Amino acid sequence: MPKFSRRFDALPKYALADVPRIKAQLIEQGVDVIDLGAGDADLMPPASVVAAIQQAVCEPRFSRYPFQRGLPEFREKIAEWMQERFDVTLDPYDEVLPLIGTKEGIAHLPLIYLEDGDAGIVPDPGYYPYFGGTHMVGAEVVRVPLRAETGFLLDWEEVPADKLRRAKLLFLNYPNNPTGAIAPGDYFERALDFCKRHDLLLVHDNAYSELGYNGYRPPSVLQYEGARELAVEYHSLSKTYNMTGWRIGWVAGNSEVVGALSRLKTFYDTGVFLACQAAGVAALEAWKDFVPGQVNTFQARRDAAVEGFREAGFELEVPEATIYLWIAIPGGEPSIEFAKRILQASGVVLFPGAGMGAGGEGFFRIALTQPPERLSEAARRVAAVI
Ligand SMILES: Cc1ncc(COP(=O)(O)O)c(C=O)c1O
Repeated sequence: MPKFSRRFDALPKYALADVPRIKAQLIEQGVDVIDLGAGDADLMPPASVVAAIQQAVCEPRFSRYPFQRGLPEFREKIAEWMQERFDVTLDPYDEVLPLIGTKEGIAHLPLIYLEDGDAGIVPDPGYYPYFGGTHMVGAEVVRVPLRAETGFLLDWEEVPADKLRRAKLLFLNYPNNPTGAIAPGDYFERALDFCKRHDLLLVHDNAYSELGYNGYRPPSVLQYEGARELAVEYHSLSKTYNMTGWRIGWVAGNSEVVGALSRLKTFYDTGVFLACQAAGVAALEAWKDFVPGQVNTFQARRDAAVEGFREAGFELEVPEATIYLWIAIPGGEPSIEFAKRILQASGVVLFPGAGMGAGGEGFFRIALTQPPERLSEAARRVAAVI
């Protein structure tokens, strides 16, 4: 067999790669495992979404190739929703592109802009496709640490001048996975200003835009002046509507970028399953009715988990958005060892901070993927181990 490429070989192993095996062993031994590792909740999509896909799969036209243009109704519904939600006016054909989940759209984007000698600026810790997509095209990954002291906000001023000169992309993600941080006040305006001055494309991942608590409504970067010239924003139906497995999202913003990604993707995929796009229309139509309940569900989970882990002796901030708690590990134990030890001893799956970059070392993440009582139970079990 030929050898793997050097770039592929250098990809880090998925931090939860061993977990399914350990979990299966524990379950076989009769352990009641509580899995708070991946951000993948135990909840159903809206009933109207399920009904929409059931109906769509019975129509021959929805079984055909979607191509990048996809279902016009979905593009138009996205544009309508972005208008209503963020007051952003978009052309549904030139400034919107449906994606097979935002992850693929993010990971493919560097292919359009980066090659050997270029650089992409990514948050550390950060969601893996920012790193993976940049690394796999042979560009330098410039990791900027997110620190508790500065609200886990990426400070672009930390990028050294020589790297900045070679950088073309700046990845931001607020509300943030894994830290739960949100972008305050003029953060996006300052980011846009920086990108303009340094000729960078601002790539904003807004996967958690609908999951803000206590009335907090996360903004879109596209609502700020000048954003259409230098930014794109990724949106996902995964977390808002419990559709992680359906693989559907979109990118919106600068038409040159959207058009280029569409052209590129012609060589990689043939679009999002049309029945799923029909379900996407139903999801966005259900937005007003469904999302408040979804937010309440996660807020109750957040509150139970915060209380439980605080009682267990951990110090943590209450996140104003996302479905994660980001918790410091006491005593300096490496996060991967800590997560393995906790899993073996308590049957609770945690996500080790280092799994999202060296900047995540010293922390673990829990995803609010289970009901409040299970989260409290998980906290009690973790407390018993430590
Ligand atoms: C920051 C962030 N962006 C995007 C996604 C994934 O979205 P999708 O399921 O649409 O690929 C996730 C999922 O965990 C995420 O945390």
